[in-house]
Amino acid sequence: MAVENLPKVKLANLPTPIDELKKLRSIIGGPRLFMKRDDLTGLAYGGNKTRMLEYLLGQAKKEGADTVITSGDSQTNHGRLAAAACAKEGFDYYLVITEEEKGHLEGNATLQSWLGTNFVYIDPVQPAEGENLAKARLRAGDKKIEELCRSLIAQGKKPFIIPRGGRSLQGTASYCAAAAEIKEQMAALGEKIDYIIVTAGMGGTLAGLLLGTKVYGLPAKVIGISASRSAEEVTALVVEEFNKDAAELGYPYRIGGSDFIMDSSYVGQGYGIPTDECWQAIKLLAQTEAIFLDPVYTGKTMAGYLDMAGKGFIPQDANVLFIHTGGGPLMFLDIVNRKAREMQQTWRP
Ligand SMILES: Cc1ncc(COP(=O)(O)O)c(C=O)c1O
Repeated sequence: MAVENLPKVKLANLPTPIDELKKLRSIIGGPRLFMKRDDLTGLAYGGNKTRMLEYLLGQAKKEGADTVITSGDSQTNHGRLAAAACAKEGFDYYLVITEEEKGHLEGNATLQSWLGTNFVYIDPVQPAEGENLAKARLRAGDKKIEELCRSLIAQGKKPFIIPRGGRSLQGTASYCAAAAEIKEQMAALGEKIDYIIVTAGMGGTLAGLLLGTKVYGLPAKVIGISASRSAEEVTALVVEEFNKDAAELGYPYRIGGSDFIMDSSYVGQGYGIPTDECWQAIKLLAQTEAIFLDPVYTGKTMAGYLDMAGKGFIPQDANVLFIHTGGGPLMFLDIVNRKAREMQQTWRP
């Protein structure tokens, strides 16, 4: 079934704007940079996952579900938007948190609690031989979801499981459709687009955009900047998701790892640990364009763009579209406030 025929609900204010970042360029030079403001999707402070949830809840409704379960860490943006979407569409909502202990109630966790989320924590994990802690937690999360599902069914509920990060056929479909939106907007602006640059977490957003460039004939190279995983790992996730979903949606396209660019060199010490370049990118965008990036995803991606453009990896005469995928509530964490105080006197663009 092609993207246009999939069931969906309306959650996002679309199309999101595309703005050219002229002030930033007047200071740093480099290629012309446009930004697709998917941080302004509207629902519960915005973000990329809202597009995915339109299709995911459409499918949940079609299947007659009354309860939604997903998983993530306590600061998951996807979880916040799933909670908001479920509140609006009338689903009970459970978030399996793949951490053993309750963290601070701040940022996305606070918002999720306002939105009526049922939080479920995994049991303490013991990594298996050769397994790292993160993998062990994901495994414990899957087990918890199964248990929760069984218990809800026994209570007469009809649960629908949304995979971590919304990575699914519906997630891919939503960003495939976003590429059609981008094509139309760039045509209306009378501008070409040579590169699309986007953060890659689970890679669903990138897989969808890449599919959309092929389905709708958008001749742009797609660059993913990993927020967590190694380039090999996230490339494999994107290729697997793209090929599976393209086949299921009836499109003839298949890809390999060389059909897009994936770079994990801006992750720094790890997922959720901002690098100096990420903090600098956040301040630069705030002080030139009054746009807030986030310290986990889009800040690192902008640091990647600035580095790539600075080194000439992206040609000067190219037009680049940066997808702002949201993450705004992550700006209200303790760690960000501490850093903001520290950087107040020390750095200006
Ligand atoms: C703000 C933000 N940007 C980007 C991503 C990455 O999206 P994906 O998992 O589809 O690669 C996420 C994932 O949670 C996110 O929250």
